[in-house]
Amino acid sequence: MHLADRSGVFTYLADNAGATTAKIAGALETDEETLDRLLLVLASLNVLDRTAGGQYALADGVRPYLDRREPRYLLGFVDHLLGSTADRFGQLAAYLERGKNAVDADLPAPFATLYRDEESTRRFLTAMWQLSFHVSHELAALADLGHARRLVDVGGASGPFSVAALLAYPRLRSTVFDLPQVGPYLAETAREHRLGDRLGFSGGDFFRDPLPEGDCVAFGYILSDWDDETCSQLLRKAYDACRPGGRVLVMERLFDEDRQGPLATAVMNLSMYFETQGRHRTPAEYLSLLERAGFTRCAVHRSTADKHLLVGRRD
Ligand SMILES: C[S@@+](CC[C@H](N)C(=O)[O-])C[C@H]1O[C@@H](n2cnc3c(N)ncnc32)[C@H](O)[C@@H]1O
Repeated sequence: MHLADRSGVFTYLADNAGATTAKIAGALETDEETLDRLLLVLASLNVLDRTAGGQYALADGVRPYLDRREPRYLLGFVDHLLGSTADRFGQLAAYLERGKNAVDADLPAPFATLYRDEESTRRFLTAMWQLSFHVSHELAALADLGHARRLVDVGGASGPFSVAALLAYPRLRSTVFDLPQVGPYLAETAREHRLGDRLGFSGGDFFRDPLPEGDCVAFGYILSDWDDETCSQLLRKAYDACRPGGRVLVMERLFDEDRQGPLATAVMNLSMYFETQGRHRTPAEYLSLLERAGFTRCAVHRSTADKHLLVGRRD
């Protein structure tokens, strides 16, 4: 899929349904025999439809994720997986033998590696944007931010949740609190979406610095990067930063309570193991972390996608 994406196959087929291998290879200037073998795999995967005469089209329903002009285009995430994490998959065998702590003892912190240069930083932030922006419209609606005035988006990256929230709630302002390296990318987003000073950036380290104060403190795909003790520490900081009457918003993939799926969460839970220091959790595990940090009336709100919302209140 990555190869087909890089060489432009999906975007071409979005505009030219019914093209043969020869026609696609001619248009994209690729080797026909190689392309033919690739297309046969994609057809077997049901990503492409193939007629008996050898004409190809995108299968029903895949276009929003594979056509790079679409807002839900997702293959930037695959780009990140292949560019930054694929070679770490092999570590799992060593983890099985010796455990993660022993194998990773000399490894730099996860984000030092991801932000090692401009290319890798942009690739990661693009992947986060693609995973989070579309579902954030639904999460912002579920969070019901009509009465909120100041959102603090902790580890908000280039702003997928903040932008969705600001577009939905005109009286809201947001501060993305993230590592200083992320600042220029957030500024790019603010310009692109014409959000002016409604979208601000505060550079810092959430382990060392206090969080900016707000009436909603959001954590999107943050707690799944860290172990329980670190999450508790972050949630206590969020409690201190949250104005009385305010709320914490945790947005995460969830395991079913019996942990027998969903498959995507189980697979991501495995890849999180060598990418980060975290894991995925059940709703009950998140609710318990929120309650231990002092939040009350904690509840789960499920989206129709795979990133869900947990809310806790500060009385
Ligand atoms: C998995 S990404 C989540 C991005 C975004 N919130 C989302 O939902 O897509 C984790 C974010 O945490 C930020 N982060 C990691 N360590 C941090 C630290 N020590 N202080 C502040 N931000 C940090 C990263 O820069 C990154 O933007």
